[in-house]
Amino acid sequence: MNLPTKIRYRRYEDWSDEEKQNIQKKVSASPWHAIYHVEPRTGLLNDPNGFCFFDGRYHLFYQNWPFGPAHGLKSWVDTVSDDLVHFTETGIKLLPDHKNDFQGAYTGSAVQIGDRLFIMYTGNVRDENWVRHPKQVGAWMDKDGKIEKFEDVLIEQPKDVTEHFRDPMLFQVDGQLFVIIGAQSLDKKGFTKIYRAQDNDVHHWVEVGNLDDGGLRTEYMDECPNLLFVDGHPVLIYSPQGLDQKELQYRNIYPNAYRICKAFDTKKPALIEPSEIRNFDYGFETYATQGFNAPNGKVYAVSWIGLPDIDSPTDAYDYQGAMTLVKELSVKDGKLIQYPVPAMKTLRKAEHPFASVSETSNAYELELKIPAEETAVFNLFDDGQNGLRITVDPKAGALTVDRSQIGEQYALEYGTSRTCPLAHEETTLNIFVDRSIFEIYVNKGEAALTGRVFPTKGQSGIRVLSGTVAGTRFDFK
Ligand code: FRU
Repeated sequence: MNLPTKIRYRRYEDWSDEEKQNIQKKVSASPWHAIYHVEPRTGLLNDPNGFCFFDGRYHLFYQNWPFGPAHGLKSWVDTVSDDLVHFTETGIKLLPDHKNDFQGAYTGSAVQIGDRLFIMYTGNVRDENWVRHPKQVGAWMDKDGKIEKFEDVLIEQPKDVTEHFRDPMLFQVDGQLFVIIGAQSLDKKGFTKIYRAQDNDVHHWVEVGNLDDGGLRTEYMDECPNLLFVDGHPVLIYSPQGLDQKELQYRNIYPNAYRICKAFDTKKPALIEPSEIRNFDYGFETYATQGFNAPNGKVYAVSWIGLPDIDSPTDAYDYQGAMTLVKELSVKDGKLIQYPVPAMKTLRKAEHPFASVSETSNAYELELKIPAEETAVFNLFDDGQNGLRITVDPKAGALTVDRSQIGEQYALEYGTSRTCPLAHEETTLNIFVDRSIFEIYVNKGEAALTGRVFPTKGQSGIRVLSGTVAGTRFDFK
């Protein structure tokens, strides 16, 4: 939603209790709240931040402007979890209250060092002429959640980048702490920079160089880069805004993409034998994915279900955005596999054979099999006439999701259907439905397709239109 700058950048302390209560009331009235996805308490949720394991539990912070469905003065809100399925919000942790982040505590990441959490993020600072001066800054969080912001700026805007220099993501290679940061060159091309913490001192960062990732640099900005190490492969996951469709076909306003590589040369710095660029998700709205290499050896990732510069039907209720489920990443036959964590099974409350049904709670998981020779067509969120139409056609090698006939329509200029490639073989689908969110996983994570629908009353059925679809529905509520 477009709101005047004056409202979006109003200081947090200037919002009265009454105004905050009114916002809260409006948010509560929404019919579309998810029951097992992280949503903002109020206002806009965008990027996942500081996703980490610290002091025996997981933290997943989110970017938030708490006062409405717009990109305003951003802060970090903390949520904690033991199982990566149930998250509890513990409140705002990073407020935009320091001279180095006064116009927003933007995206960043976190790692445990000693018994504290080191947070590195972008301080959005604008001068009196509203010119932006991005600062990469730091903070400690202790076990009680107390924040101590650093006074020093860790990395200032380098000479070869514009004001678009943000989203530091920490990673470690052989015990050495590095950070990758999204940037825009002076001739307006997107790229990333790598820095190294000298002697692992978090106050002292040395530029290693501009990362060679094999890209053609058709994008104008690389937002939210991550370098993860998945089954021995460096994987770059990033959001290259404005990427030419010749490099990658995508339908959303901005892509969220990845490259899987053979090795990472920390000195050059370069990704060795990077794959072509690929979509991380084939759906309608996945962006700013953040992952981390966890101490248990697993690699976890989560994305914002939403996109910059897109309005949502929930805007009417003063909130916007949600997180995807937490996925575990792995590499199989050169492919990146992403699949929700095994603890998702704990949400299964009742089990039914998959069949048409006129009403559900719109909170369930489907596990389906579609034979190689069949074309299966079925609706979710069905009202007896229309629904979210899913067409699975292994013979043609495509799965298509069409949301044009169901719920409140929005983002129409980016099309109402999405397609993801399928192998010409029996297809397994796991579909997670959560009131206004769906996440479709093909063959246990070979592809993912995430999106939202905003059903109106009575749009909660399942209807098989053609083909043989066998499987199970697990109700979550
Ligand atoms: C991506 C992004 C980041 C920035 C943050 C601000 O969605 O634009 O680049 O740090 O959101 O909220």
